Amino acid sequence: MSKQSGISSKAAQFRESVIREMTRQALRFGAINLAQGFPDFPAPEELKRAAQQAIASEINQYAITWGAKDLRQGIVRKMKVWQGLDLDPETEVTVCCGATEAMISTLLALVDAGEEVVVFEPFYENYGPDTILSGATPKFVSLRPPREPEGEWSFDPAELRAAFSARTRVIIVNTPNNPTGKVFTRAELEYIRDLCLEFDVVAVTDEIYEHILYDGARHVSLATIDGMRDRTVTINGMSKTYSVTGWRVGWAVASPTLTSAIRKVHDFLTVGAPSPLQAAGAVALALPESYYQGLAEGYQRRRDRVLKALREAGFRAFTPRGAYYIMCDVSSFGFESDLAFVKYLVEEGGIAAVPGSSFYKSTGGNQQVRFVFAKRESTLDAVDLCFKKLSEKVTRGNNC
Ligand SMILES: Cc1ncc(COP(=O)(O)O)c(C=O)c1O
Repeated sequence: MSKQSGISSKAAQFRESVIREMTRQALRFGAINLAQGFPDFPAPEELKRAAQQAIASEINQYAITWGAKDLRQGIVRKMKVWQGLDLDPETEVTVCCGATEAMISTLLALVDAGEEVVVFEPFYENYGPDTILSGATPKFVSLRPPREPEGEWSFDPAELRAAFSARTRVIIVNTPNNPTGKVFTRAELEYIRDLCLEFDVVAVTDEIYEHILYDGARHVSLATIDGMRDRTVTINGMSKTYSVTGWRVGWAVASPTLTSAIRKVHDFLTVGAPSPLQAAGAVALALPESYYQGLAEGYQRRRDRVLKALREAGFRAFTPRGAYYIMCDVSSFGFESDLAFVKYLVEEGGIAAVPGSSFYKSTGGNQQVRFVFAKRESTLDAVDLCFKKLSEKVTRGNNC
């Protein structure tokens, strides 16, 4: 690709984030923001106090570039309790500016130009640009919607196998999954493990929604599957589990060899994550188990409520088993595309959502829309009203 107006060929290959654009649209039209994945309810009091105390007690200068010691120790302790993994905080943990930076630092550290990265589609929007920035070629594998909305999204094992080759360096897995809400089963992860071993591939697994699970679904961490401990980079962070998306604290956990490469890239990209918020992170990671139960129960109530409202309004809403999004098929509304539907919804319906096509490289998703339900009760009351009005306004099968 030739240079356009001094723009690098990498930057020319992707567009601005549609999710963040929808947040701007929500502000412009005064719509409720069910587009970007952040809660509108308060962060836990003890974490806010810990951050304030950290600043007051002069934790205001650079932390160690790969993360404050007590936070790394907290990450390792928590992974022992929840995943049963024994890790070394000195050599296997890198604290970054959010899971976002952990992902791009990992790909830049592991992947060379000309190599391939396997990505499930639909995918969390960032993975496309991340792959391009690392110089790699993404190979997409479909996650197919279930026949019935209550069913599970799935992939075709033969299609996944066909995406692997001698050029494959990394597979990105995201479980629980954004945008589909899929929670990968142990059997699926073992199949991925077999391919990683056969093709000598590293799995980069984004587990940022590990504690947001429904209907008794269980999170299986890829690094705990036999043979994967030293072949997995586990990415996680504070944003979703502790309702602090603006703090920008995340981490990558990997073998010492992979970690030393990730740390170098991280250091020169950002130097480090905000030090007082890392101090508060150490407090967060020591919260009792009941905190995580409360988190999941709160989200289960919100999921049930929004799922019901969407279905009553005429959406074909797929039941998520984890994370805090609902993917819907909107073909019954009769709009020519997801973009047209989302435009109508934000301008006339009072709700900002994300067009499904932004989660696909292929033409998939052009009748899908994603809604976030990480919202307080009063916001969900207003959402109910908007959906009721929408179903009255929109004549099914008739483009308004
Ligand atoms: C799958 C996934 N990974 C990462 C992130 C971003 O995480 P962070 O705020 O830690 O950068 C998000 C945010 O929506 C996400 O959905």
